[in-house]
This record gives sequence, C-alpha cells and structure tokens, in this order.
Amino acid sequence: MSLPSSGAPPAVAALLDDPAYSVLKALIIDTTGMAFYRDKDSDLARILAERMAEIGIGDCAGYLDRLHCLGQGKAEMDALIAELTIGETYFFRHKEQFDALRDLILPEAIERNRTVRRLRIWSAGCATGPEPYSVAIMLEREFGERIAGWHVTVLGTDINQKFLSRAREGRYDEWAFRTMSDSLRAACFEKVGNQWQIRPEFKRNVSFQYHNLIKSPFPSLADNIAGFDIIICRNVIIYFSQATVESLVPCFRESLNDGGWLIMGHAEPNQRLFADFRTVNTPGAVLYQRVDRPYVVAEPSPPVPPPLPLVSPPPVVRGGLPAKAPTSRALPPKALSPRGSTSARPGSAAPAAAAGGAGDFDRLTVARNLADSGQWEKAAAACDAIIAASPLDAWAYFYRAMVHEQLGEDEPCEKALRRAIYLDRRLVLPHYHLGLFLARKDDSTGAERSFRNAQALLAGLADEQPVNPGEKIAVGQMREAVAMHLKLLGGA
Ligand SMILES: C[S@@+](CC[C@H](N)C(=O)[O-])C[C@H]1O[C@@H](n2cnc3c(N)ncnc32)[C@H](O)[C@@H]1O
Repeated sequence: MSLPSSGAPPAVAALLDDPAYSVLKALIIDTTGMAFYRDKDSDLARILAERMAEIGIGDCAGYLDRLHCLGQGKAEMDALIAELTIGETYFFRHKEQFDALRDLILPEAIERNRTVRRLRIWSAGCATGPEPYSVAIMLEREFGERIAGWHVTVLGTDINQKFLSRAREGRYDEWAFRTMSDSLRAACFEKVGNQWQIRPEFKRNVSFQYHNLIKSPFPSLADNIAGFDIIICRNVIIYFSQATVESLVPCFRESLNDGGWLIMGHAEPNQRLFADFRTVNTPGAVLYQRVDRPYVVAEPSPPVPPPLPLVSPPPVVRGGLPAKAPTSRALPPKALSPRGSTSARPGSAAPAAAAGGAGDFDRLTVARNLADSGQWEKAAAACDAIIAASPLDAWAYFYRAMVHEQLGEDEPCEKALRRAIYLDRRLVLPHYHLGLFLARKDDSTGAERSFRNAQALLAGLADEQPVNPGEKIAVGQMREAVAMHLKLLGGA
C-alpha cells in the first residue's frame, strides 16, 4: 500500500517510509482492535512519532523491540494506548437510551431480580467514567428505595489506564456535563475548584478495572466479567473491524444473565449482528435482550433460600459419580477458547482431568460454566458438592469464593479464598482475588502481601501463557492488573 508520506512533517514521513512501520501498525491493531487506524496512517504515524521521540527511539524496529521487551513493553504499550484511544464521553450521553434504561430496562431487571436482590451492570469501554456514574446516579435517585440493601455492582472497564485513573477519581470539568441540568449536577456533585467531584453515595457501588475487549477473553468469572443484568458498550465497537465485532457480540451475550440487556451505541444499529437477542425498540433507542427461555413476570416472590453452607453434606449424585479420595488440584477445571466458547473437553491443556479424576474435572467444568453465566446459586451448589467429595480441591474453593463474592457474602468469600491458598499456594488467582478483597476492606497491608504473592508466582512466566494452566487470563494481563493494584496501594 502506498502511504501518504509526501507533505507530512519529516518525522512522520520518515515513519511512513520505515520498512517496519506496517508490522508496528499490525501489532497495534491486533492488540487494541482499533482497525479504525487501518486507513489513518498519518494520524497513527504522528502519534507514534511523538511517542518514539519522547522515549528517544528513532525507528520502528527499535520501537517494536521496546514493545516486546519483557520489563518495559507493557508500560510502553499502555502509554501508546493512552494516546491512541479516543475518550469522548459525557454524563447521560444520548438521553433516549437513558430514558429506556429508566423506563424499561431497570424496572424489568429489578423486578426479575427481586428475590436475589442484586444487580450487576457493566459499562464496557467506559473511558473516564461518566457512563457508569450516570447509571449509578439513575439507580440511586430513581430506584434507591426499591433496591435499598441490594448488592449492586456497576463495573466500568477500559483499555486505557489513564482514563481508568481519572474515572476512579470521579472529578470532572464543565464539559462532561454538557447535557445535564445544573440542578442535577448540584445534587450529585460537589464543586472543587473549577471541577466537580461525584458525591460518595453515587460512587460506592461503582468500580473500575482494566479490561481489553480484544485480548481479555470473556465471560470470565475469575476476571469479574460475567453474570451481568445489563451491559452497556457504546461508541467502542465503531473503531473495530466487522470481524472483531462479530466475534464480540456472542461474548457479550454469554456474559449476560438470562433476561439481561445489551445497550450498544445509538449509531451502531446493525441489527443483523444481534439476531440471537430479542430486539426491543423504544423511542430513539434499540435494545437487545438475552432470552434463553420465555420470560414470565413472577408471581409473588418465593422466600429467599438460606445461604448454602460452605461445606455441604455429601450430595446424592445422580448418575453415580463416585466419591473419591481427596486430591489437591494444581490445574483449573476447563480451557476456554479465546473468544469464550467452551471446549467440549479440554485435552492436553488439562492434565488435571487425569490427575484429579474425570468425575470432579467435569463437575468443576460445570460449576465454572454456571458461575461464568451468572447462575450463582447453581454454581454454589455445584462447588459445594465437589468440596464435599474432594475437600482438598483448591479450585472448587476458589470458584466457591467467587460466587460468595458475587452474592455479597464477605466472610465466607474470604474464608474460601484462604482455604484455596492453603490447599495450593501456587495458584495465582486466589492470591490476586484475596488482594482485591482485602483492598476493598481497606486492609492495605494484607492486600499488598497478597498482590506480592501473586506477583512472585508470575515472575519469569511468559506474558502470553495462561495464568494457571487452562485458565483464560494470560500472565501478562494478570501481571499488569497486579502492578496496577500495587500502585493504587502506594507500593512499587
Ligand atoms: C468514545 S469512548 C466511549 C465512552 C463511553 N462508552 C461513551 O459512550 O460515552 C471509547 C472507549 O473505548 C475504549 N476502548 C477502545 N478499545 C478498547 C478495547 N480493545 N477494550 C476496551 N476498551 C477499549 C477507549 O479507551 C475509550 O475509552
């Protein structure tokens, strides 16, 4: 392809003529999904030229070496992504979609979840945070009484670490409120200098985490990306290729609970892609609902079942999976393909199947599938059954802990995580999640210790390999997440 190097500033022209430019460009598009840059060479080369000048690298081959460098590569890719991504966003962007959220989606989801009393919402590609905070404001102001005491999670994710830091801060310039009334802003924000700080009551259910839609497979309970009632992904996929978008839509669907809703940007109405959803049109908005079985509004709520015990008595297993001698498991229960589809039966990636016994391996796969699809009670029961049969199964405790966490059951969550670590100290994920748990509880010393344990276990492992054999999360992603949390805790 001939590139428009003539007329460009010298550094940009030199980049466009560099023989390794196309390799660099392909790596960037492959990492971020931003196919948008395919025909924007002068923009891409300008950004690259600035980055390379800043770190004193003169050609694309040298810059590629830096990006591939074990120690500095990830940080440099983050710095580059911070320049490449476009974070245009503001509060209550596209009013018609927020009207649909208030008038249809939230009332429906709240009604559907009234017995389990929890709500999980994901803003994917949240930029600096106005989208998830708008949802939190709406929930608190319009539905506060109906969901008082519920376990509510509004998760914002993005690939841009700088945006995420600003989102966590929750402080905005006037421009972020361009369509919000002054009275609503005054009710939800406090003026700090010439900026506005979101008030704590609209922040407490909102959290932010790094997630690359292209490279971080989902659904993944271990990555906290599963079992949502509502997913909002607006003005993100417009930068991706058609093939990428086609591969993402089923992942969004799988990350929703049955009956859950997907809201895409109003300018992304290619409804053919969403054929597996029920399409609902409201004035000015097109919404997609995952419907696995006909949804009927329930009769008056049945009583909430009591929490399942951590270790239940040995269950009667239909089909006669034999109870077996307890074994410690060093490997997770299943391997998922990169886009989240379950492999029918993991082969070489899962020697634990042989080591731990096919019965438990299958049951762990079932438990994890249930958890990944947000069927928490069934997942809990499945884990409890495994624990009863194999009380030394670290993975069963880990997934049980994840389910406790989703159900807002703090004490048993911590207990199950510690049990998983006690049973097998080599598993990275339990250390990492214990770190997250302790950080939430403001135990920064304990959190730092757990993150350091995870960091030590990751040391020397290749970025691309799974964090634990068969696991979906790659070492590089986990390393980055751990480093970010240590930084947030004030550590190195
Ligand atoms: C234009 S903003 C949209 C913000 C918000 N959703 C809205 O509509 O107001 C697009 C966001 O997508 C993020 N993004 C781009 N590629 C991504 C990827 N591969 N994974 C996750 N987020 C990505 C960008 O960093 C940016 O913050």
